[in-house]
Amino acid sequence: MKHTKVRDLLNSTTTLQEVNAKGWVRTFRNNQFIALNDGSTINNIQCVVDFENTPEETLKRITTGAAVSVIGTLVESKGAGQKYEIQVSKLEILGDSDAEKFPMQPKKHSLEFLRENAHLRVRTNAFGAIMRVRSVLSYAVHKYFQDKGFVYVNTPIITGADAEGAGEMFQVTSLPLDNLPKNEEGNIDFKKDFFGKHTNLTVSGQLEGETFAMALGQIYTFGPTFRAENSNTSRHLAEFWMIEPEVAFNNLDDNMDLAEDFIQYVIKYALDHCGDDLKFLEGRLLEEEKSKPQAERSEMALLEKLNFVLDNNFKRVSYTEAIDILRDSTPNKKKKFQYLINEWGADLQSEHERYLVEKHFKCPVILYDYPANIKAFYMRLNDNTEPGRETVRAMDILFPGIGEIVGGSEREERYDVLVQKMEALGIDKEELYWYLDTRRFGSATHAGFGLGFERLVLFVTGMTNIRDVIPFPRTPGSAEF
Ligand code: 4AD
Ligand code: MG
Repeated sequence: MKHTKVRDLLNSTTTLQEVNAKGWVRTFRNNQFIALNDGSTINNIQCVVDFENTPEETLKRITTGAAVSVIGTLVESKGAGQKYEIQVSKLEILGDSDAEKFPMQPKKHSLEFLRENAHLRVRTNAFGAIMRVRSVLSYAVHKYFQDKGFVYVNTPIITGADAEGAGEMFQVTSLPLDNLPKNEEGNIDFKKDFFGKHTNLTVSGQLEGETFAMALGQIYTFGPTFRAENSNTSRHLAEFWMIEPEVAFNNLDDNMDLAEDFIQYVIKYALDHCGDDLKFLEGRLLEEEKSKPQAERSEMALLEKLNFVLDNNFKRVSYTEAIDILRDSTPNKKKKFQYLINEWGADLQSEHERYLVEKHFKCPVILYDYPANIKAFYMRLNDNTEPGRETVRAMDILFPGIGEIVGGSEREERYDVLVQKMEALGIDKEELYWYLDTRRFGSATHAGFGLGFERLVLFVTGMTNIRDVIPFPRTPGSAEF
């Protein structure tokens, strides 16, 4: 007999004579009621065991975490909270779970404890919900772009280029670290390395993505990216997934329109397809916030917050306007910011971004036209900017509770201007000859952005630490599992 998923059993339109369900025991009450979960839904199915006719030995083995198979009749439940239950006629223990030793006890565990048990935390309600929402969101990402005719591009993981020019890269080598070959100048001889050159894990697929956009028109990437930045924050991972669309002939306004439409689409998709999970996560968040002072609690419940993002346009604000707002803000005047905003040109820290989004505008914000010298080399220099106050066609999207969720720009499509910029920043033109070729042969206006997938999942699930929305987080000092 083939087993049926719990989700399908609970959604059944009729009672059924004989069904088989397989899953893991969440709880076993009164020697009679198994709450069985198989991961297909947040909801458990109640399995009622005929304890009088079941050997004591078997009953003892129905413990939290055990894998079981039950055969029985699907009947309308007399108990509250569920439509159906299974009256068990045959029960088989597939895999025992020592109740004393199984770390996922049926009680509240701290998120920190669960992180240390990331291989088992997915058996909890919260992490099951988060991982299903994550999966649905990634499907929505593909669906959005595929429906619009974008081509999905797999850009390389190993690369010689530093796309962001920030030097935050993990090196890739097969050289023996205890006996590195040296060249005549006494430096490491990367010619002897696997690829015959120095390589690293990619920080972004953008530069390769641009070459494809300049042929296929509209492309997107969705893959892992790596940053060796030592930021031990609740918003940073060393390995994270990024979505990077790139579109030929789009300017910065088109880029903002695309980003806003895309984010609203995927959030709507999650609302439409993850109702039970999101409702559960909303309850979890409310519960968690009860222990916080009023001022630190969210103003909106999770579903209300998600709907708010769908119903309101993102506020578009230039960097210069933002600096004026921040300079005159109360936390700046009262010296409450850790980094005070004194002048135009200052880089914005997350405290500033969050002030703008959470206190000032109270909605998602797109900041654009940043000072050229705090942004990456490939961003298009604005026409008519004052000398000494050059700005680039950059945009960052800031979200409540998250800060920066998207970074993007219109690209510098003019060969000469790009070369000048690379020279000024000491970026190797030989290494990036292929990138420059896009500007030598049929260059055109184009734009794109990168969305940090885990930051999106954070926002949608109402979680507060990025380590809790990726299966096995990699952070400074930690690469367990
Ligand atoms: O702003 P970033 O660095 O932009 C780029 O990499 C561009 N090449 C994107 C493009 O235009 N195609 O990163 C983009 C986004 C950020 O806005 C943030 O959401 C996320 O990636 N991100 C991180 N997420 C988790 N952990 C980290 N360490 C992250 N660094 C960036
Ligand atoms: Mg950025």
